[in-house]
Amino acid sequence: MEETCKNVYITTPIYYVNDVAHIGHAYTTIIADMLARYSRLTGHNTYFLTGTDEHGQKIAQSAQAKGKTPKEYADEVSGKFKQLWDDFDITYDKFIRTTDEEHKLGAQKAFEKMYEKGDIYKGEYEGFYCVSCETFFTEKQLIDEQFCPDCGKPTSIVKEESFFFKLSAYEDRLLKWYEENEDCILPRAKKNEIVNFVKGGLRDLSISRTSFEWGVKLPDSINEPKHVMYVWLDALINYISALGYGSDEKEFNFWPASVHLVGKDILRFHSIYWPAFLMSLELPLPKHIAAHGWWTRDGEKMSKSKGNVVNPKEVADAYGLDAFRYFMLREVPFGQDGDFSQKALIDRINSDLGNDLGNLLNRISGMSGKYFDFKIDSKDVQKYHQKELDEVNEILENVEDLIFNMQINRYLEEIWKVLTIANRAIGDYEPWTKMKEGKNDEAMALVALITNIMAKCSILLQAVMPEKISMIAKSLGINIDTKLYNELIVDKGLIQNTIITKVEQLFPRIEEPLLQTAPEVKKDKNEVEQKEEEPDNLITIDKFFETTLKIGTIVEAVEVPKSKKLLKLQVDVGENKYRQVLAGIKEFYKAEDLVGTQACIVANLKPAKLMGMLSEGMLLAAKDENGLCLIRPEKTKISGTKIS
Ligand code: ME8
Ligand code: MG
Repeated sequence: MEETCKNVYITTPIYYVNDVAHIGHAYTTIIADMLARYSRLTGHNTYFLTGTDEHGQKIAQSAQAKGKTPKEYADEVSGKFKQLWDDFDITYDKFIRTTDEEHKLGAQKAFEKMYEKGDIYKGEYEGFYCVSCETFFTEKQLIDEQFCPDCGKPTSIVKEESFFFKLSAYEDRLLKWYEENEDCILPRAKKNEIVNFVKGGLRDLSISRTSFEWGVKLPDSINEPKHVMYVWLDALINYISALGYGSDEKEFNFWPASVHLVGKDILRFHSIYWPAFLMSLELPLPKHIAAHGWWTRDGEKMSKSKGNVVNPKEVADAYGLDAFRYFMLREVPFGQDGDFSQKALIDRINSDLGNDLGNLLNRISGMSGKYFDFKIDSKDVQKYHQKELDEVNEILENVEDLIFNMQINRYLEEIWKVLTIANRAIGDYEPWTKMKEGKNDEAMALVALITNIMAKCSILLQAVMPEKISMIAKSLGINIDTKLYNELIVDKGLIQNTIITKVEQLFPRIEEPLLQTAPEVKKDKNEVEQKEEEPDNLITIDKFFETTLKIGTIVEAVEVPKSKKLLKLQVDVGENKYRQVLAGIKEFYKAEDLVGTQACIVANLKPAKLMGMLSEGMLLAAKDENGLCLIRPEKTKISGTKIS
């Protein structure tokens, strides 16, 4: 965000529709919403974009696993994202879907433009692909020759005709851009990583796929109907197609973006590919790309199989949306990882919100009611409290810079310092003593001082906690808008007269966690009971070898409708036909995550029918109180390899 530019354009990533939103998504969206609200309040013409990313192999596979068409599936999950943001009062100006017609036109126009420019050529891609991250990797980048360096899942080998973007040709121009624009990537430490990565050399980027169909077709002029656009090219273009690029450009005056807000996981796409695409399109580059850190829960990575994913709606319903917003924005320095725990959230609510903020309002209404019939007059504030006013104004003068640098937690810290000045002043000047001494003017000046401090802080906190702040505003008899912002913050003025209204307690104290906690994930190894060996249970080796164990590669996985437990798998065990295996692992694995992975299979079991379907084998798995996992080969083996 720039103080000088009147138009402000703020974006979130567009979220994949393979899963419902969790607190990570909510975090990005809440930061963006806070910035957008702040920007509007401070008088900027603001456009706030969010939406969903709906194409690509990952979505196609998830849809297939659910027995739906990709579009049906995308409609459903995209709808859930939108509903959540609406429930959260997220003030987006547009919710874009990459399946929107206008978006497709924008993506095609961009492709055409880059092609005409000579930045796109046809070739063949051979390498590795992580479907979960929708990212290409070279063999050298893989972990143990097989696993994705970003998410750890197995990659698959891709060899197909593909169009390439001449990313390597943009190395120097990118480095120049980073150098000339100090704050183009925030925080700085992250920027250094990107600069080093680019200095290490860029390879041309594969930007089309031919082995599946769920994507934006290449423009007709290129006449390559087999190809669909690489989902990341398609996705990044949303930031301009949303403003009408390629269709009706009526909002295009908002470009370039003031800030693209992203998680650190996708910073590379935004700070290398995206600027290079924009250079090729001869469009201005975004002012800032700001990358935030990663949320864990109770110190653990969140994952479905652990059952410890934090549902943002549940948290907000239990603790209040504004408390949740405050917690997320206050708890971690922007760019660093953060941990969600109910304890940390409760501490913030009871201490920062209840004691410091809520209590101050109680004291204002208490004292003004008791001594002055709720009427506040600021005429003597300067006379008695110039010192406190100067302190407050000095802090508030500098907080805006913190927002422009994405240091939102510091911004909140500074505002809390101001609240402390108010709370301290009450103790220092004891208005009750002044009243006893008949110094009513002085007591009034003090109550008016803290009312004004509360008003100033409320203006600056409105973007963070819109609902609670509107209650405070009501109580103070003020109307928070750009005019008041200019009077009280920019011009450092005071509200002269006002009448206080009593409101209900803003942040009632919370004693106990309000949500059931996730199942205990970690257990000390020693606590796991050792089963006694049973000596008369021994078998001979021949008996063991009556079981044929083989390595199987799961080539297809779908959920069995109406079954809580079963997944239907097609497993390649090196025979001329795949085996159909019904496995009771649905609670522990997502169907689409299994595709392409290997497991150990009992290959000479008599076929059996489960829910009317044939099962021709059994996967080996181990289950303890922490859940179930499949037994897999340490390295990829040829399908059908015998285990002995
Ligand atoms: O990457 N902590 O979509 P996505 C913090 N479609 N933030 C988190 C998080 C966590 N644990 N998990 C997710 C995509 N996020 C692409 C983006 S943009 C042109 C295309 C947030 O659904 C974070 O902002 O995987 C991350 O960047 C985003 O969700 C990824 O969402
Ligand atoms: Mg992701």
